[in-house]
Amino acid sequence: MADDARFNPMILDMPMARLRAQALGASKIREVANRGYGVQGLRRFWVGESDEVTPPFIRDAAMRALEAGRTFYTHNRGTAELRGALGAYLSRLHGQTFDPDRLSITSAGIQALMIVMQAILDPGDRVVAVTPVWPNCTEAPQILGADVVRVGIDRRDGRWTLDLDKLIEAITPDTRLVLLNSPNNPSGWTLAPDQRQPLLDHCRRLGVWLISDDVYERLTFGTDRAPSFLPLADPQDRLVSTNSFSKAWRMTGWRLGWMVAPASLEADLAKLLEYNTSCAPDFVQSAAIAALEQGEPFIAQVREGLVARRARLMAGLSALSGVEATAPDGGMYVMLRVEGETDSLDLAKRLIDEAALGLAPGSAFGPEGEGWLRWCFAVSEPALDEGVERLGKWLRRR
Ligand SMILES: Cc1ncc(COP(=O)(O)O)c(C=O)c1O
Repeated sequence: MADDARFNPMILDMPMARLRAQALGASKIREVANRGYGVQGLRRFWVGESDEVTPPFIRDAAMRALEAGRTFYTHNRGTAELRGALGAYLSRLHGQTFDPDRLSITSAGIQALMIVMQAILDPGDRVVAVTPVWPNCTEAPQILGADVVRVGIDRRDGRWTLDLDKLIEAITPDTRLVLLNSPNNPSGWTLAPDQRQPLLDHCRRLGVWLISDDVYERLTFGTDRAPSFLPLADPQDRLVSTNSFSKAWRMTGWRLGWMVAPASLEADLAKLLEYNTSCAPDFVQSAAIAALEQGEPFIAQVREGLVARRARLMAGLSALSGVEATAPDGGMYVMLRVEGETDSLDLAKRLIDEAALGLAPGSAFGPEGEGWLRWCFAVSEPALDEGVERLGKWLRRR
């Protein structure tokens, strides 16, 4: 009865959102976070961001831009200076030239995803997503009325792997879009270099769009970048790479991202940007130029820090009996599970109440994540050590 009333605004005659909006999943990370408010001394590892501020060379560039009066609207797809700097950065990274006509600056990675989906998805379209994944990736198509089919990565020999045949089989001729995030949030799984070409070829053959969410592309362990589709693709392929300044340059609060798309999409992307936010803030775009032009030593330092913290967290967790953790290939998260615990949301809530430890429930990333917890290790080593110690004490009391 209560459910019927919730999904039928006519019955209650209450002002309600449309059904697709009502049907969106509420964030389970938020559910855990709300539980944690007011808990004394709680250690939080559930957010996907560093505990350190954006580096001075980027903050200084923003302050200089503000002092210079860069407070006006810009071109919908970003300033010519930033798109030029981005083109040069991408050319250095991927060894080919990127025409600024293919580049759009967005208000963060999430907006790049949403805008490109607004450009290519109709209600009822079939979207195939590689999962588990950051929930925004699978909720965004549903906001637009598309239907999401999930293809789960598997655990083999203690590692997350993608069964490419399974994915290719799911990409049918009536599929509109494939969505893939590598390195993956939450698992750290990273697409193998030799899996790119067959996937791209299959999408090409069927005329299916491929969105590659590359926000963790620079946060890899053992290399300085994750395998990308960009060097393999033709400029006119139905490929869109979405990206962000949030993670590699520690700019989560600045809300700035970009996408690389076929030039034929750009006029429509500009209109969609106009009708969403019109453009990203000019002084933030100025700071991003400094990030791109001077940021390599900083990114190397971030990566080095993550390599050390990943090793530290993995060593701490593997010393705890009853805990299984998977070393990620990239990103900033470790997934772990505790013997005998199958309900990750319940476990995450109990860890708050009983251990003052804040982890994200794996089920927040889809049914494939159930039974697992996600631990963000982009935080200081003493904080990580204390978190592991709290988990150890809780396990001994359990
Ligand atoms: C997989 C993935 N894509 C995109 C984003 C978007 O980040 P932002 O909107 O801060 O650029 C995130 C953030 O956590 C993410 O995990």
